[in-house]
Amino acid sequence: MAVWLGVVGAAAALGAIFAGLRWDGRRRPRPMAPGLETVFLDNPLRRALFAPALATRAWTPPPGSWVGELGSGTGMVTAVLARAVGPAGRVWAVDRQVAAVARTRRRVGRWPWCAVALADARHLPWPDGELDAVVSVAMLGEVSAGERGTVLAECRRVLKPGGRLVLGEYGPDPHFLRAAELEALVARAGFQVELRHRGFWQHVLVAIACPSAQEKGARGIKQ
Ligand SMILES: C[S@@+](CC[C@H](N)C(=O)[O-])C[C@H]1O[C@@H](n2cnc3c(N)ncnc32)[C@H](O)[C@@H]1O
Repeated sequence: MAVWLGVVGAAAALGAIFAGLRWDGRRRPRPMAPGLETVFLDNPLRRALFAPALATRAWTPPPGSWVGELGSGTGMVTAVLARAVGPAGRVWAVDRQVAAVARTRRRVGRWPWCAVALADARHLPWPDGELDAVVSVAMLGEVSAGERGTVLAECRRVLKPGGRLVLGEYGPDPHFLRAAELEALVARAGFQVELRHRGFWQHVLVAIACPSAQEKGARGIKQ
């Protein structure tokens, strides 16, 4: 009996801690401290249940593609992208935290086709229309609700017309965004949803950058 009470108590305490973190994450979106990233994301449990390859399971960048990554964290997703595009491609990753950039560089530094920069997703350091895809996992929820549109407008700017935006979310992340929230955001930013991939407590949205009316006009496409 005492054992059962202990188990139930421990489960309730863990549930309360998790609910508190989630509540705080939604109330005050902010980058996850790199130390916490290691605990939450860079561990065997995450690898087993919420594999970094989730993003590329929904859409795999073909070898040779140029891919940008927002919020690389410890570089787990960056490494998956680097392997997919291979030496003929490019992976440009950014994170706004110095420690995260250092960790990502440590993980992918051996691949010369990967470049990792300290930058904010709200002002990407990349030229217009250069990338085949932009991938971001568990990052957008760390940006304030009012600035998520700015991030997605930047994604649109750096993507080629028809380029892909791949957004992934993991349930245990305190800044988790629901699939419906992501869909509304990308639609407002001028993307068209191509596919939705849902797994246990995680999801990925793949969307295509539609040309704006202005771009269509410039390229002689009928409206
Ligand atoms: C929860 S971690 C996810 C890391 C990685 N994508 C993964 O799935 O393993 C989110 C990362 O996004 C970064 N981040 C948050 N806001 C950002 C912003 N505005 N610009 C660039 N990076 C940002 C944080 O510093 C953090 O390293």
